[in-house]
Amino acid sequence: MNAFPQRSIKNTLYGLLFAVLTLSATISKAQDGEKLFKSYCASCHYANEGVLVGPGLKGVTEKYEMSWILKWVKNSQELIKAGDADAIAVYEKFNKVIMPAQPVTDEEIKAIFTYVDESAAAAASAPAATADGSSEVVGAEVSSETTSPYLIFLGAIVVLIIVIGILRKVNYSLATVVDKDAAGDEKDMWSALLDWGAKNRKFVVLLVLGLIVLVAKAGWDAALNVGVYTDYQPEQPIKFSHQLHAGQNKIDCNYCHSGARNSKSAGIPSANLCMNCHTYINEGPQYGKEEIAKIYKALDFDPVTKTYGENTSPIKWIKVHNLPDHVYFNHSQHVTVGQIACQKCHGPVEEEYTVGKQFAPLTMGWCIDCHRETKVQTEGNGYYDEIHKRLPEDLKAKYLENGVINVDELGGIECAKCHY
Ligand code: HEC
Ligand code: HEC
Ligand code: HEC
Ligand code: HEC
Ligand code: HEC
Ligand code: HEC
Repeated sequence: MNAFPQRSIKNTLYGLLFAVLTLSATISKAQDGEKLFKSYCASCHYANEGVLVGPGLKGVTEKYEMSWILKWVKNSQELIKAGDADAIAVYEKFNKVIMPAQPVTDEEIKAIFTYVDESAAAAASAPAATADGSSEVVGAEVSSETTSPYLIFLGAIVVLIIVIGILRKVNYSLATVVDKDAAGDEKDMWSALLDWGAKNRKFVVLLVLGLIVLVAKAGWDAALNVGVYTDYQPEQPIKFSHQLHAGQNKIDCNYCHSGARNSKSAGIPSANLCMNCHTYINEGPQYGKEEIAKIYKALDFDPVTKTYGENTSPIKWIKVHNLPDHVYFNHSQHVTVGQIACQKCHGPVEEEYTVGKQFAPLTMGWCIDCHRETKVQTEGNGYYDEIHKRLPEDLKAKYLENGVINVDELGGIECAKCHY
């Protein structure tokens, strides 16, 4: 008899649940976008207006087709070479500065622009920025206070349960009005709710599943993030730029990280090493004298008289990479013996990084996967000529059956090799 109100209530609830799910999906997408934007684009672009290295990204999605944006971000030079008029125009406008190809997928680019559009909208509704382009600050503030999608989702579920309760009550009194002899006259709200649940199993199952997925996802994210900091890039005491030093000025990694070739640690250079060049170079292209002055301060160096004082205070670089104490890792084994490029483990430091950042996850799986896949560089490698000579014939046959030796065959996945 009460089939009609039952069904419409159910539809309303499914509708609500669906809306909540889509809402939380878009929010978490915008959040991913924010992270991606910060790690890939923020060194050169504001999400809003104003020029950093490149133009602010506000309004880009209105100006260009998404297909153009995808091509541009992944490889702007290709688009320019292909003679695309829009691409050439931006390129010329920015004094032919090359925007490096970004290692992001189509999905990631879309997420970045979801975030850009959202933060532009948020900035527009914030108190008016001054007209001279200082609106960057607003964009930055807004982006730092995004609400967690989980909180929103949980809040929505509480609201849903209350709504179910109210609707059920209305429905229940309707039912009693219609059917005065209903046996459950004295049923309280709670048993009514249980009753309703029993009649709407599918919906309840969906709700419970949703909750489980949510909690599991939160737990999973938390677990994955314990001790894993890919893209960890802390604010450093001096705005040192790898892009400028190792990229533009082509200074060899080993000049500053001289330990990498012949010892366990690569090491961070001392301020004295910086002075090999900065005794003379006291001004930079981006920060003028401000940042280089911090090197002088650390060494109590007077750039006018070119003399050193007593009042030194070491530069406190924040270590980005941190393996746990129980793991043994040796740079020279990899760089000199293994002949692996720094970039294989640290990413394109010289192209993208303003300051050092963690590129690889540094998990056990990451080490072991590479040891399984990587062929040991034995040819012309003094370290191995000696070992080859000593290797018994049967072992030689075994290791060399497929013509290559991988690191794992040398014991590179034995626990004791990496653990003290
Ligand atoms: C190393 C600096 C740098 C990085 C990093 C960078 N860009 Fe750019 N970008 C530029 C420059 C410079 C321009 C101006 C065009 C030119 O000179 O080639 C530009 C232009 C653009 C344009 C065209 C804007 C317009 O108004 O026409 C878009 C879109 C864009 N970048 C998106 C991105 C995205 C998305 C990322 C991150 C995934 C990114 N860029 C990372 C330097 C960079
Ligand atoms: C081999 C030479 C060399 C060494 C060593 C060196 N630098 Fe530089 N540094 C440069 C050059 C070249 C510039 C760019 C000057 C310019 O373009 O006007 C520069 C610029 C800078 C700037 C200014 C950036 C800007 O955009 O304003 C800072 C800060 C800086 N270096 C910090 C350091 C620190 C810290 C060290 C030591 C860890 C260091 N440098 C070691 C050559 C060097
Ligand atoms: C096989 C991967 C791998 C290669 C190749 C590699 N590194 Fe590392 N690097 C690491 C790991 C892992 C750490 C973290 C070590 C730790 O915390 O004990 C690290 C740490 C560092 C550090 C932080 C300081 C230190 O010594 O802990 C610097 C600087 C560094 N590497 C520079 C370099 C340079 C320069 C090269 C190339 C000459 C290079 N790395 C090659 C994996 C690698
Ligand atoms: C002019 C000196 C200089 C050169 C050249 C240089 N670096 Fe660095 N590097 C530094 C300084 C200073 C730091 C500490 C500040 C930071 O993290 O940005 C650092 C930090 C790092 C870190 C992060 C270390 C940590 O804290 O765990 C890595 C990785 C790294 N460098 C790799 C490289 C690679 C690879 C190259 C060559 C492509 C290179 N560096 C070239 C000076 C240099
Ligand atoms: C990019 C690939 C790569 C990654 C990533 C990597 N390794 Fe290696 N590793 C090698 C290669 C290649 C060798 C063999 C070098 C040689 O010829 O001895 C090696 C050798 C070793 C050895 C010596 C093994 C032996 O049998 O003597 C140890 C220990 C080691 N790696 C530890 C680690 C640890 C710890 C990590 C992670 C933090 C790691 N490696 C990550 C490529 C890698
Ligand atoms: C190639 C190097 C390598 C080998 C071989 C290796 N491990 Fe590890 N292991 C690591 C690294 C790196 C970590 C640190 C991972 C992290 O901090 O996320 C680690 C972490 C661990 C941990 C601690 C987990 C944690 O959450 O911190 C245990 C336990 C462990 N390894 C056991 C083993 C055992 C058992 C073996 C032999 C079957 C082994 N490992 C072989 C590199 C290695």
